[in-house]
Amino acid sequence: MSVLLTGGAGFIGSHIAVELINAGLDPIIADDFSNSSPDVIDRLYAITSKRIPCYEINVADAPSVSRIFEENAIDAVIHCAGFKAVGESVSEPVKYYRNNLDTTLTILEQMKAHGCENIVFSSSATVYGGSHTAPFTEDMSAGDCTNPYGKTKYFIEEILKDAAFADKSLSVVLLRYFNPIGAHESGLIGEKPNGIPNNLMPYITQTAAGIRKELSVFGNDYPTPDGTGVRDYIHIVDLARGHVAALKYAANHKGTEIFNLGTGKGTSVLELVHAFEQANGIKIPYRMAERRAGDIATCYAGTEKAARMLNWRAEKTLQDMCRDGWRWQQNCVK
Ligand code: UFG
Repeated sequence: MSVLLTGGAGFIGSHIAVELINAGLDPIIADDFSNSSPDVIDRLYAITSKRIPCYEINVADAPSVSRIFEENAIDAVIHCAGFKAVGESVSEPVKYYRNNLDTTLTILEQMKAHGCENIVFSSSATVYGGSHTAPFTEDMSAGDCTNPYGKTKYFIEEILKDAAFADKSLSVVLLRYFNPIGAHESGLIGEKPNGIPNNLMPYITQTAAGIRKELSVFGNDYPTPDGTGVRDYIHIVDLARGHVAALKYAANHKGTEIFNLGTGKGTSVLELVHAFEQANGIKIPYRMAERRAGDIATCYAGTEKAARMLNWRAEKTLQDMCRDGWRWQQNCVK
């Protein structure tokens, strides 16, 4: 089974590529390397001993995507390509809407033109917004997003749902990611943020590496057990395996289905800091800071639906996430 993996050189996409190969499937990567590096393809070869075909294209460009479908018998698409920096999306919303929506529309048009019926989309728990009480379940309302990045995820979900409603041959799986962290255990692929990291785990690993002086903990007066924000951290390899399960589901169903990819467990900022310290024997200097605009107190997944319908569950521990994330940071060029 050939799978077009857009954004396949990125943090999430590269781990999906490994798990597709582990499952005996054939990924074909499309990436413009705007937020990733071509050497990821060599690293994927080092991990899997397979040369993954890679097209350096912008996924919004119809002729380029058409060529991929013409040169390969694509059975399904996993669509990860997209801009993802929350802060940048606030200052440059049009860039986010243009890129994230255009790539999706082109993929949908080209799937139709070439008779490809299955798509798995990288969505986000951010679409649940701030008005629900965790655990967030797939039947809860969505769309109340606090930033343009989140809105692109929600709008794309709606576009895909409408497409599947109109075309009964289409199968759409929307995967709502919680907080993917960690890295492949080889230490060869992982998350490489541009500049100062926005997300907690890369900030912790860069602080451990001495690249950052100290971590700012954004808020310690939330209604949570220790006052710091609670999230559902999921090992990137578990998350990637969720895509293999979603592909199998998509191949046997029509219409749209939504699944959370999370562990169902909430961890506070300070708990993650201490888990990292314990797993790796390194102290993380931190100080308390103001709340960050747009953050909610508590976010974790309801996992029952994915367990029941995809037969998938996250298996790795917080310790695995901290250990593997740190191994990657140490291998990463500063
Ligand atoms: N945090 C800090 N200090 C930092 C960075 C983060 O205290 O330097 C805190 C945040 O306030 C929050 C927690 O750590 O409580 C997690 O923050 P992240 O930025 O790592 O993750 P978010 O939950 O804010 O956002 C992530 C993804 C988004 C996605 C969202 C879905 O980055 O793309 O999850 O819930 F939309």
